[in-house]
Amino acid sequence: MRNEMLVPVAPFDAPLLTCTIDGRPVEAQAGQTVLTVMLTNGAFVRRHDVDGEKRAGFCLMGACQDCWVWFSPDRRGRACTTPVVDGMRIVTSASYGGGDG
Ligand code: FES
Repeated sequence: MRNEMLVPVAPFDAPLLTCTIDGRPVEAQAGQTVLTVMLTNGAFVRRHDVDGEKRAGFCLMGACQDCWVWFSPDRRGRACTTPVVDGMRIVTSASYGGGDG
């Protein structure tokens, strides 16, 4: 489910990549951050700790830590400052690591 309100600014001739968000295959372009890939594909980053509302990052520049996602069971990172790579597996929930997701 593509978010038509968000348009990637990566060059149109950037190589296409494939990654997954919570197991769902999505296309991305080289040069995009994980956050832009997630938001342009209708995903969210995590759920709020208190009310469970969907979060989409806050500062978008690596300062607030509102965009932590999992890349493997032992590797987390900020979606807003992590470039997407081909084959990347992005997990939003606590299914990796036992966090609050
Ligand atoms: S959105 Fe603030 S650190 Fe990523």
